[in-house]
Amino acid sequence: MSEPWNLDRPGRKLATTGTHRAATLEETWRRLGPALAACGVTRVCDVTGLDLIGIPVATAYRPNARSLSVSQGKGVSREASRVSAAMEAVEHAHAEVIDRPLRLARPAELGAAALDPRRLPRTADGVLDEVTPLLWIDGVDVRTGEPRAVPYEAVSLDFTLPPALTGHGLSRDSNGLAGGNSALEALVHALCELIERDAAALWDLRDGLTQAEARIDPSTLTDPETARLLERYDRAGVEAALFDITSDLGVPAVLCHIVEAEPDPFRPLPAATGLGCHPHPAIAVQRALTEAAQSRLITVSGARDDITRERYAETTDLDGIGELRDALRESLPYARPFEAAGADHELLGDDLDWLLDRLAGAGLDQVIAVELTRASLGVPVVKVLVPGLEGAGALTGEPTLPGPRALALGPETADA
Ligand SMILES: Nc1ncnc2c1ncn2[C@@H]1O[C@H](COP(=O)(O)OP(=O)(O)O)[C@@H](O)[C@H]1O
Ligand SMILES: [Mg+2]
Repeated sequence: MSEPWNLDRPGRKLATTGTHRAATLEETWRRLGPALAACGVTRVCDVTGLDLIGIPVATAYRPNARSLSVSQGKGVSREASRVSAAMEAVEHAHAEVIDRPLRLARPAELGAAALDPRRLPRTADGVLDEVTPLLWIDGVDVRTGEPRAVPYEAVSLDFTLPPALTGHGLSRDSNGLAGGNSALEALVHALCELIERDAAALWDLRDGLTQAEARIDPSTLTDPETARLLERYDRAGVEAALFDITSDLGVPAVLCHIVEAEPDPFRPLPAATGLGCHPHPAIAVQRALTEAAQSRLITVSGARDDITRERYAETTDLDGIGELRDALRESLPYARPFEAAGADHELLGDDLDWLLDRLAGAGLDQVIAVELTRASLGVPVVKVLVPGLEGAGALTGEPTLPGPRALALGPETADA
């Protein structure tokens, strides 16, 4: 395979707890230092103690952001959670201010030199046709190393841009955006995120029985790190319901709903959801468990720009919490061991090849990466697009159009 840029293969993993990484947390944190200031991060703080669960969650603040000014991070240790929050802030800053050449062209003018924007996640508004020009930025086909232009609005997170530049109805979010210790590591992380959101979007369209039958029996999750996370929920009186949402791609993907067993009527704590996806099944489970704790803290801490007043009210409504808890309990009799096979590689390069193979197996043979790394900061950041995968719209509540994979699930899903 020819490489689009120096991917630092083979990519030996130096950290494998909770996530697989090419450097230790101490080294990553040290390297992030100068980038944090340059990206406008004023504070990274530990907010774990605002909740009762104890799974580490950190928050990074970027007051002058052009998208979210607050980033959250999670992990199996405090050090992991602060790196995750800080890296998310840095990754967003890179996607907000992109100093690469852009060009204005109609899709038809670029032909095969561009990715087909109609196969990207789309919103219900905006004009996307053969004659309306849009802005393009250069990307690289990860498999072939060939250049491929991609729509700038699917990459940029600058929400201060005038609508004329971005109003073509392509989803604008951070799905597939990742930073890391190397471009290879960031690429693997970005692909896992894209595959996770696709799996979640398809899962959303499944009927109740199919969903119940995907319930994972937690007593079969014997990995010590996973057991520790489950124990945290247990001690906090929180029920954690895990579901195997692995799609036809076969990359282990897990959804975790958490809900209080006996909510305090004077201080009901919100129900929340987390997702995880990784070649290694145990890491997928752990990521879903840590992300659910992070989601609950996002609501508890009240710091995020994109959580509305209605959403706060909804997640702490006592009746709603009770109903969700009862519904989750109903799926318990279906619980079974988590059997997604996945893969356990020593090298990030093997993770990448394996993920590319899984995608190709489902006919998703275009994987386009836009490198956003700024040489002056030296933190690898990449935005990856895989035309054909479902987007994160169902998760964000944005009105989106079903893509080809959602439509293929059956006619009843067409207007879901
Ligand atoms: N240990 C780590 N070393 C380097 N980068 C990390 C590490 N942990 C997380 N990141 C990066 O931090 C960002 C947020 O990651 P993560 O917390 O896993 O959240 P997400 O669910 O958005 O993927 C991503 O860019 C990810 O690659
Ligand atoms: Mg992310």
